[in-house]
Amino acid sequence: MGSAAPLSLLLLSAVLLLSSVSGSTARYTPDWKSLDARPLPSWYDQSKFGIFIHWGVFSVPSFGSEWFWWNWKQNSSSYVSFMTKNYPPGFEYAEFAPGFKAEFWDADEWAEIFEASGAKYIVFTSKHHEGFTNWGSPTSWNWNSVDNGPHRDIVGELATAVRKRKSVHFGLYHSLFEWFHPLYLSDKASNFTKQDFVSSKVMPEFYDLVTRYKPELIWSDGDWEAPDTYWNSTEFLAWLYNDSPVKDVIVVNDRWGQGCYCKHGGYYNCADKYTPTEPPKHKWEKCNSMDKYSWGYRRNMKFSDVLDLPAIIQDFVYTVALGGNYLLNIGPASDGKIPIVFEERLRSIGAWLKINGEAIYGTKPWRLSTENGTVPVWYTSTDSAVYAIFLTNPGQYSFQLFTPVTSEKTVVTLLGIPDPLKWAPLHSSGLVMLLPELPYTPAQAWVIKMQGVA
Ligand SMILES: *[C@@H]1O[C@H](CO)[C@@H](O)[C@H](O)[C@H]1NC(C)=O
Ligand SMILES: *[C@@H]1O[C@H](CO)[C@@H](O)[C@H](O)[C@H]1NC(C)=O
Ligand SMILES: *[C@@H]1O[C@H](CO)[C@@H](O)[C@H](O)[C@H]1NC(C)=O
Ligand SMILES: *[C@@H]1O[C@H](CO)[C@@H](O)[C@H](O)[C@H]1NC(C)=O
Repeated sequence: MGSAAPLSLLLLSAVLLLSSVSGSTARYTPDWKSLDARPLPSWYDQSKFGIFIHWGVFSVPSFGSEWFWWNWKQNSSSYVSFMTKNYPPGFEYAEFAPGFKAEFWDADEWAEIFEASGAKYIVFTSKHHEGFTNWGSPTSWNWNSVDNGPHRDIVGELATAVRKRKSVHFGLYHSLFEWFHPLYLSDKASNFTKQDFVSSKVMPEFYDLVTRYKPELIWSDGDWEAPDTYWNSTEFLAWLYNDSPVKDVIVVNDRWGQGCYCKHGGYYNCADKYTPTEPPKHKWEKCNSMDKYSWGYRRNMKFSDVLDLPAIIQDFVYTVALGGNYLLNIGPASDGKIPIVFEERLRSIGAWLKINGEAIYGTKPWRLSTENGTVPVWYTSTDSAVYAIFLTNPGQYSFQLFTPVTSEKTVVTLLGIPDPLKWAPLHSSGLVMLLPELPYTPAQAWVIKMQGVA
C-alpha cells in the first residue's frame, strides 16, 4: 500500500499530462469531416431526458402556435379572424412585445419543477423565428427582453437558477433565420450570395450567447432555407469546439444548413418528432411536445390536445430503448407561469423515474429493443443488468420473456419491490417469472430488472 499509492499517483499524473497535451493539439478544422468526428461529451447520452421550453412574444397572443406571426402574415384565416375580432386595425406584431410582462415569472420556481421532473437538461428558446431575443442582445436593436417586454435578462436569470440545481444541464435553442428580418430577406433575395445578416446578427449573437451564458447545449434551428456555407456553421462550430469557454462540454444538434440534419453536427434530431423504427447508428434525440399541436403556449389548447402521462412514458421508453434522448416540450404563458397541466405531467414523470430511473439514466440499448412477451416490452441495459419495461398490465401473475438467456446466477426483480421474483428458464432462451401484485403507478409502466442474463 505504502509504495503503491505514489506509483498510481505518478501514473495518474502522466495520464492527465498526456490527455491535456493531446487535448490542446487536436484542433478541429471548419469542415464536416473534422467536426463530425468529435466525440459527443458523455453527459448528454447519460442524461436521457430533457425539457424543451418555448417562450417568447408568441406567448402573448398565445393562439394557434409559436408560428403565430408567420401564419397571420400568410393570411391563414383563423389567425386573420382572431386579429380582426380582438385587435384594432393596423395592429402590428411588434405591439405584442410590451404584453410579454413575465409578471409572475420566478426562474427558481421553474428550475425546481425541472429538477422534480427528473430531467437532466433543459433547452430554452434564446430566440425563435420571430427574432425576439430573450437576453439583451446588443445587435437586436430593441427587439429583446431587456429593452422591451419584461425588461429582464431571461436567459441569464434562467441560467443562474438552473445551475443552482446541480443535476440539470443548461441548453439553449437558437433559430438561425428570422422570418421578417430585413437583412435576412435581402440576403435571401440575393440567393444567399450576401451574408449581411450572418455577419451583423447571427454571428455576433452566437458569440455573445456562448461567452455570456456558457450553455452546455446548442439546439440550432431555422437553418433549412440556406446552405451551411451561408450560415458559416462550420466556422462557428470549429470555434465552439476549439476555443470557446464551453469547448469540452458543449453538445450541439444537426440543424446547421440545408441538407445537414440527420447527417452532420453533434447528435441528430432529424425532423421534428423523429420516430425511427430501428435503433439509429448515431446518437439521436426525439423532441416532442406535450401539446400535440403547438410548441408555444396557446390559450385555445384543449385538455384532449395534451399528451397524457402513459403516452409520454411510452414515447420516452421507446426512445431510450432505441438509443435516443427524449426532449419533452412545454410552453409557459406570457406571465411566466407553467400551465398546471404541464407541471402535473412533469412531476409525475419525476415520480416514475424515482423508482424506475435506473432502467433509463446511463443505459444503453440492449441487443434487442423490443419483443412481445406476455405483453410488449422495451429493453434497456447497463453493464450489470438488462431491463424489460412494460406498459400494459398483463392482468396475470405469470410473465414470459423469450430472449434473455439465464443462468443459475440470474436474479430477477421488479423495480419498487425489494424481494426477488421466482422464475424458471424456458427451453433454449427466455424465462417465465411470477409477478407480485403490481405497484400502483399513474404512468402505467413497470420495470423488470434481470441481473446475470445474456
Ligand atoms: C395577405 O393579405 C394582404 C391583404 O390582402 C396582402 O397585402 C398580402 O400580400 C397577403 N399576403 C400573402 C402572403 O398572401
Ligand atoms: C441559387 O444558388 C444555388 C446554389 O447556391 C444555385 O443552384 C441556384 O441556381 C441559384 N438560383 C438562382 C436563381 O440564381
Ligand atoms: C465566414 O467564414 C469565412 C471563412 O472563414 C470568413 O472569411 C467570413 O468572413 C465569414 N463570414 C461571416 C459572415 O462570418
Ligand atoms: C408485437 O405485437 C404487435 C401486435 O400484434 C405487433 O404489431 C408488433 O409488431 C409485435 N412486435 C414485435 C417486436 O414482434
